[in-house]
Amino acid sequence: MEPDLKQIERACALLDQGEIVAIPTETVYGLAADARNGEAVAKVFEAKGRPQFNPLIVHVSDRKMAEAVGIFDPISARLADRFWPGPLSIVLPLRPDHQIHPLVSAGLPTIAIRMPLGASVKVIEMLGRPIAAPSANRSGRISATSAQAVRDELGDRIAYVLEGGKTSVGVESTIVKVEGDQVRLLRQGGVTQEEIENLLGLKMILPEKAGAIIEAPGMLASHYAPDAAVRINALSVGQGEALLAFGPDQPELYAQAKAMLNLSPTGCLREAAANLYAYMQELDRSGAATIAIMPIPAQGLGLAINDRLERAAAPR
Ligand code: TXA
Ligand code: MG
Repeated sequence: MEPDLKQIERACALLDQGEIVAIPTETVYGLAADARNGEAVAKVFEAKGRPQFNPLIVHVSDRKMAEAVGIFDPISARLADRFWPGPLSIVLPLRPDHQIHPLVSAGLPTIAIRMPLGASVKVIEMLGRPIAAPSANRSGRISATSAQAVRDELGDRIAYVLEGGKTSVGVESTIVKVEGDQVRLLRQGGVTQEEIENLLGLKMILPEKAGAIIEAPGMLASHYAPDAAVRINALSVGQGEALLAFGPDQPELYAQAKAMLNLSPTGCLREAAANLYAYMQELDRSGAATIAIMPIPAQGLGLAINDRLERAAAPR
């Protein structure tokens, strides 16, 4: 069941406006957002109800779009030549001028990219820029392989489900990462280990458990920490501290800060999530020894924001 042009146009228009849309790929349905739009990407985490920000896969419609985002080494290029479009995601270093919102890569210097098959490619082609899309299920639940499964999971939380019938592969994409002359298998999926090893004539480095889904790198306490120390739940600003504020402006508090940015003056968690990584980085560049961060409500997207902040504040 292929969606018609009208339906593809509708999905594309909604994505263009910063809405989130479920779209069929050959593996599972993805919950898609414009990968350059931080608030749209924040909506994805909100809809999934995930209490952490894990990095998302960026989906492209052609090789040129992929090369504008990631830096291909020769082995990754061979994998893409052979398996794209198809169920293989390749983790690559981000290009300096990549334009992907930092929430997509969870602040990592790398990005997982894939070129899917089916209606999703038509949507990306029409949009003209990459989409970020995790599987279209609520956090901790199994992936959706039909439009009905998506509606059962997320129906009231998303703008539109692009109907594309049952997905043909039914399991998620395989994820690999080239490390020097070795290839690490990060997740088993639609392209088999054997197919990859036969093509490259090498043995991959395997995950601990066969079939295990690796913990997202975003889960590691050390993965994103600024150079500055981080103090969370701050109600005051100390000597020489930079302040990451949240909520209504407090000029008397800001006056004491070496630098100040407000994640969301209106207290919008979606806006705060979209600003989080860039603001942390900018305050870090101010040269302050410590970034003091005001309390963020522990609800909805606030859970993922707090998870990230607690990791950044963890002893190093
Ligand atoms: O088949 C699929 O891959 C589906 C469809 C929608 O394309 N998508 C999917 O996305 O399964 P998601 O978000 O459920 O899984 C993405 C996985 C995460 O487990 C994450 O750890 C890994 O990709 N990942 C993303 N970026 C990464 C990176 N830079 N380094 C290592 N792993 C990464
Ligand atoms: Mg998933």
